[in-house]
Amino acid sequence: MANPSLLILPGDGIGPEVMAEVRKIIDWFGEKRGLVFDVEEDLVGGAAYDAHGVPLADETMEKAQSVDAVLLGAVGGPKYDELPFEVKPERGLLRLRKEMDLFANLRPAQCFDALADFSSLKPEVIAGLDIMIVRELTSGVYFGEPRGIFDDNEGGRVGINTQRYTTEEVRRVARVAFELARRRRGRVCSMEKANVMESGILWREEVQWVHDNEYPDVELSHMYADAGAMQLVRQPRQFDVIVTDNLFGDLLSDVAAMLTGSLGMLPSASLGAPMANGRPKALYEPVHGSAPDIAGQGKANPCACILSFAMALRYSFDEGAEADRLERAVEKVLAEGVRTPDLLQKEGAVPATTAEMGDAIICALDESLATA
Ligand code: NAD
Ligand code: IPM
Ligand code: MN
Repeated sequence: MANPSLLILPGDGIGPEVMAEVRKIIDWFGEKRGLVFDVEEDLVGGAAYDAHGVPLADETMEKAQSVDAVLLGAVGGPKYDELPFEVKPERGLLRLRKEMDLFANLRPAQCFDALADFSSLKPEVIAGLDIMIVRELTSGVYFGEPRGIFDDNEGGRVGINTQRYTTEEVRRVARVAFELARRRRGRVCSMEKANVMESGILWREEVQWVHDNEYPDVELSHMYADAGAMQLVRQPRQFDVIVTDNLFGDLLSDVAAMLTGSLGMLPSASLGAPMANGRPKALYEPVHGSAPDIAGQGKANPCACILSFAMALRYSFDEGAEADRLERAVEKVLAEGVRTPDLLQKEGAVPATTAEMGDAIICALDESLATA
């Protein structure tokens, strides 16, 4: 059988720095576990714009459609802020999500014990936290028409975006949330703004429909997204799976990321419909961005990107045990006190560089074999 294929798109800013550490991990699995991937690397975001004048070349898009999984670092940066909207780095990422139809974005927020006292919330509120946010990723206000900036014919301008959801768009992402809940603690909380938005009413009704007709065994609750944000910081452990739209999911997952200590810790999987081989189309990426403020300084935390590769092992390659192994290695390294600057709390503690963090995780992986 052919090796499974990976397309790696490091992108901009800290993207290439954190992806270099993921490459070490991929190589380790090839050498030590016989899990050999055919890896190809290409450009996305500002890096692609610099080379091709577009944030994602058609050829790259084709490659992304043909591989078993895509791994992405991050896109964007101040250098590209003044570019026309259509060629901004972020458009490259949005094109991948849309054309691959990656409608379900899984953003787990788990608090590693070693980081419990690092969160801005009290350790007793955060210890043992394990939430899965399922964000709809290919519709809503990110893609709805009409959109644009227009003259308002009174000497001013008007900026328009459209929040739009169809029955099927809501139902298919709801199903993903219910399926996950069945394998977790059996609870889904759906978040929208049904009190002010018709699209929110539709969202609520369709999630309820999927529940009543297909998943009556799962416990379903609904919450307005603003109240949900409040509850996420008040008592985050009340949640198991949260399902929400594209924009609310973007916001709520950044909040959830900080609960766990740092944006540098939160991975994600973006999944679409199954391909011919039965695996879902998939793109894995950290939740954080290109972090221009620390790019090029060896300060970036590679864990979110490494944990995104763990999600790839689990969701694209049926290697759940190897995903667990990698997650445990990350946990062990954190427990040993190896920390990039974003995770340092004690004054005078010496931070690890991005590469040192990656190397420490490789050591922990080696040790996992010795103790097996
Ligand atoms: P950001 O996530 O890049 O950074 C926010 C803060 O978190 C910064 O202080 C940064 O230093 C810190 N941070 C982020 N990741 C870190 C890591 N791995 N280790 C240590 N610290 C980390 O968000 P931003 O500053 O709002 O956006 C910067 C650029 O990234 C923008 O162009 C934005 O559009 C883009 N962006 C891209 C993605 C993506 O590619 N998926 C996601 C979010 C933002
Ligand atoms: C994310 C990012 C993206 C989003 C941007 C970079 C397009 O913030 O993945 O969370 O808004 O979806
Ligand atoms: Mn975001």
